[in-house]
Amino acid sequence: MSIKNIRLEVMQAIEPKVEGFMDEFLIPTEKIWQPTDFLPDSQSDTFFDEVEQIRGEAKELGYDFWVTLVADTITEEALPTYESWLMDVEGIDQHNGKDNGWSKWVRAWTAEENRHGDVLNKYLYLSGRVNMREIEITTQHLISDGFDIGTDRDPYKNFVYTTFQELATNISHKRVGKMARKKGNGLLAKMCTIIAGDEMRHHLAYREFVKTIMGQDPDGMVLAFADMMKKKIVMPAHFLRESGGSIGEAFEQFSNCAQRLGVYTAQDYIEILKKLNDYWDIGNLRGLSDQAEKARVYLMKLPERLQRISERMQFSQQQYTFKWVEANGML
Ligand SMILES: [Fe+2]
Ligand SMILES: [Fe+2]
Repeated sequence: MSIKNIRLEVMQAIEPKVEGFMDEFLIPTEKIWQPTDFLPDSQSDTFFDEVEQIRGEAKELGYDFWVTLVADTITEEALPTYESWLMDVEGIDQHNGKDNGWSKWVRAWTAEENRHGDVLNKYLYLSGRVNMREIEITTQHLISDGFDIGTDRDPYKNFVYTTFQELATNISHKRVGKMARKKGNGLLAKMCTIIAGDEMRHHLAYREFVKTIMGQDPDGMVLAFADMMKKKIVMPAHFLRESGGSIGEAFEQFSNCAQRLGVYTAQDYIEILKKLNDYWDIGNLRGLSDQAEKARVYLMKLPERLQRISERMQFSQQQYTFKWVEANGML
């Protein structure tokens, strides 16, 4: 039997449990927060005063902060890419009736995620600090360019990727929220914190998917995990570009901003890997095939190896001016 068929069988075996995962890790639509809960109500008489307050507070935030918030927003706005990618993953069968648990999960997860780009986009628009048209062009480019996260249609690799990324976004939204609060931007801080909370629930869910698969097919899962880490977990917005730019050009500049600001760093990458190794108990897995055992050893040694590399790593301190945000002399 090919490896492919084992994956499909495992996905089908777990599928009846997915409904339970949805109850555990997602929040019903009628109960969860919506973007308007955190934005001025445009039907209210106090709308303009509230917008005025947002614009006043926004003046306290520096250049790297805005760039990071813009790129985070665009990353969230590229949701169509993630949904279409995940729907194509083996075992997530949206055509096999509406009742396939995995495709239900992907739709419900997407529906929760959709609120992130929505609330951030509206906030950016009201803030008066960014060039919305340039942002919109980048978003359109990014969705049109798609991505290649190196997972293929493999559910194991895709779940490793999403587990990793959901925690990475939790970290970065949380830190942006803290910075906003420090600079007196209460509303923005609340938004970022609530988004970070969603990302954490999603992280816990995907990490559970992987753990469940690990119970059924440890060899395949460990090999998939190691393979993803060998390739490195790329950011979903790795193709980011500005108007007139070429694919991926803006990404490195943005990632330097996030490093400088300390919103998401090489150290965070290592910490996430350590957490995943711990939760999936990679250290204590026994009875693997020779190949999987090698992959397991690789994963256990990887954090230390990355630590040594990251200590030598340099990122640019030079500020780059993006079309999304005009320079105002504040870093
Ligand atoms: Fe999100
Ligand atoms: Fe997410």
